[in-house]
Amino acid sequence: MCGIVGYVGSQSALDVVVAGLKRLEYRGYDSAGIAVLADGGMAAAKKAGKLANLEKELVERPLPAGSTGIGHTRWATHGGPTDLNAHPHLDNAGRVAVVHNGIIENFAELRAELAERGHALSSETDTEVVAHLLAEEFSACADLAESMRLVCRRLEGAFTLVAAHADEPDVVVGARRNSPLVVGVGEGEAFLASDVAAFIAHTRSAIELGQDQVVELRRDGVHVTGFDGSPAETRSYHVDWDVSAAEKGGYDYFMLKEIAEQPKAVADTLLGRIDASGSLTLDEVRIAPGALREVDKVVVVACGTAFHAGLIAKYAIEHWTRIPCEVELASEFRYRDPILDARTLVIAISQSGETMDTLMALRHAREQGAKVLAVCNTNGSTIPRESDAVLYTHAGPEVAVASTKAFLTQLVACYLVALYLGQVRGTKWGDEIRAVVRDLSRISEEVEQVLETMEPVRELARSLASKNTVLFLGRHVGYPVALEGALKLKELAYMHAEGFAAGELKHGPIALIEEDLPVVVVVPSPKGRSVLHDKIVSNIQEIRARGARTIVIAEEGDETVVPYADHLIRIPATPVLLQPLVATVPLQVFACELATARGNEVDQPRNLAKSVTVE
Ligand code: G6P
Repeated sequence: MCGIVGYVGSQSALDVVVAGLKRLEYRGYDSAGIAVLADGGMAAAKKAGKLANLEKELVERPLPAGSTGIGHTRWATHGGPTDLNAHPHLDNAGRVAVVHNGIIENFAELRAELAERGHALSSETDTEVVAHLLAEEFSACADLAESMRLVCRRLEGAFTLVAAHADEPDVVVGARRNSPLVVGVGEGEAFLASDVAAFIAHTRSAIELGQDQVVELRRDGVHVTGFDGSPAETRSYHVDWDVSAAEKGGYDYFMLKEIAEQPKAVADTLLGRIDASGSLTLDEVRIAPGALREVDKVVVVACGTAFHAGLIAKYAIEHWTRIPCEVELASEFRYRDPILDARTLVIAISQSGETMDTLMALRHAREQGAKVLAVCNTNGSTIPRESDAVLYTHAGPEVAVASTKAFLTQLVACYLVALYLGQVRGTKWGDEIRAVVRDLSRISEEVEQVLETMEPVRELARSLASKNTVLFLGRHVGYPVALEGALKLKELAYMHAEGFAAGELKHGPIALIEEDLPVVVVVPSPKGRSVLHDKIVSNIQEIRARGARTIVIAEEGDETVVPYADHLIRIPATPVLLQPLVATVPLQVFACELATARGNEVDQPRNLAKSVTVE
């Protein structure tokens, strides 16, 4: 939520920062701004709306050239998305500029103090107070990093701050508490950004910043301390994907590219999980087998699409391990005083590893003595860093706001965790585990097959562009798939879309059915749990009898649904529990195409942001 870039080096700061912001626009796109240090002063430009507006402004009114700069792309919290509220914010003398991600909770108090001391604040943001406080501290100590440390000690809330001062033209300073910030180290240049994607075109050498740390960036190196000035330990790492992974690669939208990358993402997440003796090895899961044997309850916490992955994981965890599993929205979790202890395993699922609701939920769980395992796609992000263990999904960078490939890999990772628990606790035999892993390793190819047959789905989506409502039904693991299908449609097509458990239909939602209302039904495999299958076939007939237009997703060879399907979408036959890995894909394509047909921005839907770093 909000993207931040800082640069010190010898290239044009304007070019580096704007290019970096382009890669971070998925984090927020309400407004954008940049400040460059040039000619002994600070030059800034900012504009409401997308980055393109700022770029236009920079063409019409160019900034002077400089090689130190900071930039910001915003998802508004305090104050609407106007030019005035856009970042950077400057002090009254226009010497210091600051950009911010997060919320400064005590800003009203600080603002009142500053007003008393004669500062004139012009925006409605919480950020502007920081510019003024930094200017005050700098006038006393003439050291921007020290000023930042002093200011940070006075701030409450979550924040990443990046600042520059005209009196220190070759320095950029960053600070981090509960919001992401990574350092990029190049040859004679250094970068700061919310995400490595912003500087991956220049360097793949990165440093993780810890909580409550301040970093001073200079051409010849970086210096990191705690907020109290004490020397800080940092961890350097090599970013193992290159710039092409963060580009559209010929697709019109990142979302289309990410949907197409799913077979590889699934395969990569499975790589190297079985050792020479045929056992499942999850090296990163550093919770001792003894502790896992003690676990008597699993709680999954997550938000949005990751929450839906958790709902599906519950079926696998309970079935394969016989441990009770609850799934809870991270934003609700800690407020209801959940029952947790040292025998509870909490699984926190997050693509970004930065979602504040999920982070707060896991902190609460650890305070109560529970063990936390993160399932995450972003190396070195806060959620895995604060967890007892992590299982990384290997989806590669996901840029489109609506999550696709991360979801599929979260499912794979959760299945692996469930099997691993089964292995450690002896509820699953080795050959049973290997059989499931074999089924999982076929999924990549099956997703590929689904992707090859999507033209009729796209055509159907286009034909429904003028509809107002679409409903989704499912049973068993198909129920969370229905919820995910509806979420995708809300996010992308801005349509009224709801997912229901098909069995609940008769208890209320059936009243919504009217002539020609599109209803998507996810049909479970007729093999295995035939009771489920037969029940949903009856549900399809019930809605069709009331006029619904039925869009049926069913596996190859399931002929019983044919008479009741106005539109039939075929998916490969899979074991029951794994069906969501193939059944979700047509729903992603459907939502993406419908959004396009309605003229919506696929990668950056209105009001949303990909990485939600506020509660
Ligand atoms: C936001 C995004 C969703 C995402 C959710 C959780 O709301 O728009 O697509 O599913 O956050 O994000 P996480 O990074 O924790 O998986």
